[in-house]
Amino acid sequence: MRLIKVSDEEELSRMAAEYVFSKIKSSERIVLGLATGRTPLGMYRHLSKYSKEYKQSYSHVHTVNLDEYVGSRAYHDYMQKNLFDHIGIPKNQTHLPDGEAYDLEKECRRYEEVIKELGGIDLQVLGIGENGHIGFNEPGTDFSSRTHVVELTESTLSANAKYFTHEKQPREAITMGISTILESKEILLLASGEKKARALRELFQGTLNSDVPATVLNQHPNVTVLADDGARSLLE
Ligand code: F6R
Repeated sequence: MRLIKVSDEEELSRMAAEYVFSKIKSSERIVLGLATGRTPLGMYRHLSKYSKEYKQSYSHVHTVNLDEYVGSRAYHDYMQKNLFDHIGIPKNQTHLPDGEAYDLEKECRRYEEVIKELGGIDLQVLGIGENGHIGFNEPGTDFSSRTHVVELTESTLSANAKYFTHEKQPREAITMGISTILESKEILLLASGEKKARALRELFQGTLNSDVPATVLNQHPNVTVLADDGARSLLE
């Protein structure tokens, strides 16, 4: 696991955008795994700007998001507003789990098929939960899990409650499983702020522990962690 140290959220956002943009520019075809939440917002802002400045085509880019709330399109809307509206990516090349699907188990299987048909994920961008979750794989999730429906923990619900001013916050989500995430060829994990410091300490100094799902990333051969001063504050 490589650690890239940055000072604050702004530097993290810029570095993350440069990292992803250079992969987009240098690939003939790329499947990007994307995250939502607060952390990648700055990265999406910079990516949108670079795309306009360099008139970058996205016709060779496919995206698959980590997760979506059950009964909601919150993350579809987030991606549209924060990235897709600004980069001119063909709509049929962007994928998120359908949280409004009638048959959620079938939807999980469909989503796994989508990833498989795309040939797998080349670069997966991850955030990290305060409790060490990746995607919405909460503490205790089986490392062999694939896309599945989860019940969110109180920690995750309260961290994300602020985004639900117009609709009732769902208590369940569909998420790629840990095994699905680990099959990505490369992973870029972003961590910003002191609230992530304990999870990051477990990631770098703890042992493999399903109570802190992110510790499984030590099993992956190609992980880069971009972390700012706050997130690194408990690392020795
Ligand atoms: C989002 C996701 C989550 C977040 C994590 C951190 O798609 O899968 O794992 O990355 O909850 O969220 P923020 O960035 O809001 O602190």
